[in-house]
Amino acid sequence: MISGGPGTGKTTLGLHFLAAGSDSPALLISMGEAERNIRSDAAAIGLDLDHVKAIDLSPGAQASSGAAYTLLEPWEAEPTDIRARVDEIFPHGPPARVFIDALSQYRHLVPDAFQFRKQVMSLLEYLTRSGSTVLYTAELGSAADEDLQYLGDGILRLDWAPTGRTLSVVKFRGSAFAEGRHTVRLTGRGMQVFERLVPSDHTQAFRSVPLPSGVPELDTLTGGGLERGTVTVISGPTGVGKSTLGVQFMREAARRDERSVVFSFEEKLATLRHRCEQIGIPLTELIASDSLAVEEVEALQYTPDEFAWKVRVEVEDRGARMVMLDSLAGFRQSIQGDDVARHVHALCRYLSNMGVTVLLINEVGTIAGGELRVSDYGISYLADAVLLLRYLELDGELRKTIGVLKKRTGDFEKTLREFEITSTGLRVGEPLHGLRGVLRGVPEMAGESDGR
Ligand SMILES: Nc1ncnc2c1ncn2[C@@H]1O[C@H](COP(=O)(O)OP(=O)(O)OP(=O)(O)O)[C@@H](O)[C@H]1O
Ligand SMILES: [Mg+2]
Repeated sequence: MISGGPGTGKTTLGLHFLAAGSDSPALLISMGEAERNIRSDAAAIGLDLDHVKAIDLSPGAQASSGAAYTLLEPWEAEPTDIRARVDEIFPHGPPARVFIDALSQYRHLVPDAFQFRKQVMSLLEYLTRSGSTVLYTAELGSAADEDLQYLGDGILRLDWAPTGRTLSVVKFRGSAFAEGRHTVRLTGRGMQVFERLVPSDHTQAFRSVPLPSGVPELDTLTGGGLERGTVTVISGPTGVGKSTLGVQFMREAARRDERSVVFSFEEKLATLRHRCEQIGIPLTELIASDSLAVEEVEALQYTPDEFAWKVRVEVEDRGARMVMLDSLAGFRQSIQGDDVARHVHALCRYLSNMGVTVLLINEVGTIAGGELRVSDYGISYLADAVLLLRYLELDGELRKTIGVLKKRTGDFEKTLREFEITSTGLRVGEPLHGLRGVLRGVPEMAGESDGR
């Protein structure tokens, strides 16, 4: 049974079911919409129903079938023996796939609820005993809906919410199923379902080794690099070089023949390309050789399920080993629905399980001053490592620093180093001693402003 409110995609789902079995005849029993409308709807979304025979019991077809019984209830004029019509069309028994749309409408063709149950049960039993797989729709909340729920071996529920369409499996006899609400899209090509991401369903064996950045001083700072299959937050104010630093790790990954993907929520590819090429990271070349993909994501383009599906395609079909979300704030704006932290968490857990290294770009609001905020979105607890980029005012000059705030696996250096973006690449200097106030966001040389 497919249950759902008006326009939720019940008919569309049934049409996919019919079209998927084009190697043998199938049957459509239409009770609400006229057969020709259903066929033209199917053609509009590119589904071929040439192999499908139809029994049209829609109100229009009934009226034009001869007898003028407008003053009589339909069942008084002509009791509909569906089984006889099936046998007529399929003398050797019913076909493998049968779609009845909407079976709840049949309630109007029989005198009472008892007759309805009896006839529907007998029809379904006849069809299933003959080996047919039957999909029937019911309008949510209709009088017949409740009766029909008990007749199906499985119930698929379609819903429409402000955040988008969903499908959930209510019951599915004799089998496990993916629980929860899954995102549904209806487009010019019909229905697409994006399964909810359950991180623990996905694992892959991998060796946890540190992945270097290719900048020796930076690798010293991080104790050898970022551990494979961990989540690193790169945190810093605007323009300090967070994305560039992320891409640097990806360039090094490309040298190991590992593919990376950047999901860019705020920045255009052209901007990122320009910035990288200016400092000697050959983004165009990396993209051309398919070592790196940059996907621009528009605001409110995806639901969390859909985005997770995109990430899964990159990881499972295209072998991505490093994924960067740039930035968390952008992710929050682009992904519909609330509870962003939960979705980031699920996504990161999935990626970690698959041995994919994750870089989360986190922009902190203040350029200088203010307290330390690693992340505004309650996700710092899922970070295995935090790289902190900060501006530093030194003798009236604006400089940049980099430090490791935390790293769960392995050792790291607890000092800050100067960080520079030069025309020949990222440069990280020797440890800076004697700095203080870094965690307040206003680093200064100790002793300089002591009023001496
Ligand atoms: N090309 C398309 N792009 C987006 N949405 C589409 C497209 N074609 C159809 N739809 C949507 O599909 C929905 C209709 O799907 P369908 O007829 O399967 O629903 P239903 O549940 O059977 O509806 P009803 O209750 O009327 O029987 C409509 O809401 C319509 O907006
Ligand atoms: Mg319909």
